[in-house]
Amino acid sequence: MVEAITPEELADKQDADEEFALLDTRPESSFESWHIHGATNVPFGPEESLSEDDAEAVASMLDGTDEVFTICAKGISSSHFVDELEAHGFENVKVVEGGMEAWSQVYERVPIETSGDAELVQIQRRSKGCLGYLVGSDSEAAAIDVSRHIDEFRDAAAAHGYEITHVFDTHIHADHISGGRRLADELGVPYHLGDRARKRGVEYEYDAIGRNEVVRVGEVDIKAVYTPGHTSEITSYLVNDEAVLTGDTLFVDSIGRTELEFGDEDVGKGAEMQYDSLHKMLMSDPDSVVVLPGHVTVTEDGQFAHGHPAAPIRSTIGDVRRELDVLQLSEAEFVSHLTENVPEKPPNYETVIAINRGVDEPEDEEEATELELGPNRCSAP
Ligand SMILES: [Fe+2]
Repeated sequence: MVEAITPEELADKQDADEEFALLDTRPESSFESWHIHGATNVPFGPEESLSEDDAEAVASMLDGTDEVFTICAKGISSSHFVDELEAHGFENVKVVEGGMEAWSQVYERVPIETSGDAELVQIQRRSKGCLGYLVGSDSEAAAIDVSRHIDEFRDAAAAHGYEITHVFDTHIHADHISGGRRLADELGVPYHLGDRARKRGVEYEYDAIGRNEVVRVGEVDIKAVYTPGHTSEITSYLVNDEAVLTGDTLFVDSIGRTELEFGDEDVGKGAEMQYDSLHKMLMSDPDSVVVLPGHVTVTEDGQFAHGHPAAPIRSTIGDVRRELDVLQLSEAEFVSHLTENVPEKPPNYETVIAINRGVDEPEDEEEATELELGPNRCSAP
């Protein structure tokens, strides 16, 4: 019987800076497109056996590291790899239970402080860098940008003593399957999307929220701030005058890309809208307003590009106004910057958008996982 650790235990070890080796047995192409920080690729199939030479190569790679973990897509090949290593005398080798599929479901709940009364919890999906939120007040809460693992949001709300009374999405996401509509349906509460979502062919009923409309949750006002550019319907949510949930319009160290909806030909049109949304809408908020983005960039090596998992990913309007280079550009410079630097497309984004518009559906959990694999790619370079 192969010994295992859970992905959560692996996350804790990462956060504690413990020393260990992590051997990823997936094919090189899968590893290159997405892997856990610090992992080493040792491709190994479920039918393969380890030769004496291979075992020696692994031993020299480990260089005396005491703790060794193996991981693959689902934990099957990597369990077999543990067996093979043990047959060659390796000790203290464990498989990461459920592999990358389970790793993609590791979440952290991070309280966010503001100067006011709203209670905010950032729910971080560690592998992808997706950030969802609970905005709570007086035992009520809104859940915003909910992932498809809706129990993470239900459990977080229960742990904080909130009842979820409203669910919001900032926009039709391209990098992950939203759980917003399903959560709202299960709870029998409104599901809000910007009113322009209808024009993108959304096929289900939702509670359209218009420009500057306010929804009250407990004692807190959540105001829809229309910030098109990343998409045509994207809406930021201003919580009192304490915090603004910016979705993929503004991140703590970058801004959202603008060509996923508008296409490479119309990237300029999206960029012009994005410029206005940033400068006329978001930057007109007071300096003290806390910026809470929909994503944090995850590097090719699997690390948060800014901050650390389980620590708040946040900035303020004043800080981003002063520090973000892209916000120092003139409109013409800004538009050519976005037009000339189009990043790699997120995997499967057209299918993910179709699912989030309600016109397609993943066949099963396996397909949903497959569609979402890899880090988010929502920001402009
Ligand atoms: Fe997005």
